[in-house]
Amino acid sequence: MRFNIGILVGLIFVSCQKEDEGYEPIPEPENELLEFVKPEHFPELTYDLAQNPPTEKGFELGKKLFYEGDLSSDGTVSCGFCHIQDFAFTHHTHIVSHGVEGKLGTRNAQPLFNMAFMNDFTWDGAVSHLDQQPIVPITSPVEMNEQVGNVIEKLKQDDTYVELFAAAFDNQEVNTENMLKALSQFVVMMVSANTKYDRVLHNSGDVFTEEEQQGKAIFEQKCATCHAGILFTDQSYRNNGLQIDPEYNDIGRERVTGLAQDNRKFKVPTLRNIEITYPYMHDGRFQTLRDVLDFYDEGVEVSETLDAQLQQNGTIGIPLTEEEKDLLLTFFKTLNDDNFLFDDRFSEF
Ligand code: HEC
Ligand code: HEC
Repeated sequence: MRFNIGILVGLIFVSCQKEDEGYEPIPEPENELLEFVKPEHFPELTYDLAQNPPTEKGFELGKKLFYEGDLSSDGTVSCGFCHIQDFAFTHHTHIVSHGVEGKLGTRNAQPLFNMAFMNDFTWDGAVSHLDQQPIVPITSPVEMNEQVGNVIEKLKQDDTYVELFAAAFDNQEVNTENMLKALSQFVVMMVSANTKYDRVLHNSGDVFTEEEQQGKAIFEQKCATCHAGILFTDQSYRNNGLQIDPEYNDIGRERVTGLAQDNRKFKVPTLRNIEITYPYMHDGRFQTLRDVLDFYDEGVEVSETLDAQLQQNGTIGIPLTEEEKDLLLTFFKTLNDDNFLFDDRFSEF
């Protein structure tokens, strides 16, 4: 591996003294590269680590920024306010996100993990690079309602930040680029790959119960075309048949592409840690996983862009018996990753 060894900032030897006196090398603070461990059974990274290699100091800075209320106009809304670790970095009970002064957004906060493997970001894919993502919440009037320039000014007034930026980046500057890079270094290290599902796959002693095995089989037959592969998403945009909510009238992917064929399509979400990231769907309309399964069974609405998978041979939706629903719910528990949810590296305190 290219990234797992070495010291990013070497020792800089400075000598102002005469040669015959010799000199004491003055070491720069060391900033070690962090090792990004790609799970063996995961695909190649989409994030280019070489362009922004996570380091000890960059990660520390990114974490502090992630939990920093000053990224918002009123000092109260940090990234971590909407992305809470205990709930796989979602906003838990909140149907749509809450920003400054309790203002409501229109979408449910997405979980944050395995971002290093994603092609693009947000429910409609409006953001194509992880480093650009923070601009959206910072400048959104219903989220952090701030200007990036103001954020940088505030950070420059704070000695702790000035020192951290200097330690984390070669050019030592408190600027937008470095702020975004530091946030990415923190977020990109969030990898969730140690669930019972993964352990069974690795033959590490864990085995599925009979019910889990049956749930897995139903899942593979009925759901895995879209919630595909080891990330549990094929990263495509699809209309899974939700009725349009007249309050938000969210047209999904069409907002980004302008194409009518993308109307009501949203990114297929991962199902890792799904038990704890409620409420569900882009607008958080379902409180429980049972509600989601009931929806696939009997709530799917036909529209022009409804996915072909959900109208096969004239059957609308995905018929599921109550027993099959129970088995799917049992299977979903094998996708919880407590190692990630309680990983201190990502905790605020
Ligand atoms: C007010 C709540 C709120 C705040 C504050 C917030 N987010 Fe989010 N985040 C969301 C919502 C809602 C989405 C989905 C947005 C959409 O689909 O348009 C999201 C999406 C994301 C995604 C994309 C995830 C994916 O799977 O594509 C990333 C990454 C992210 N946020 C990181 C951050 C970072 C970093 C910050 C701090 C700079 C932050 N967020 C602040 C609510 C918030
Ligand atoms: C045609 C592709 C497709 C199929 C098949 C499919 N899904 Fe989905 N699923 C999606 C899309 C797209 C979304 C997001 C929709 C939205 O929020 O607008 C989604 C959302 C979900 C969510 C909510 C996730 C979250 O983070 O809010 C769950 C849970 C889910 N699906 C489970 C299943 C199960 C279980 C099956 C099989 C019974 C299934 N899906 C079959 C495409 C699909």
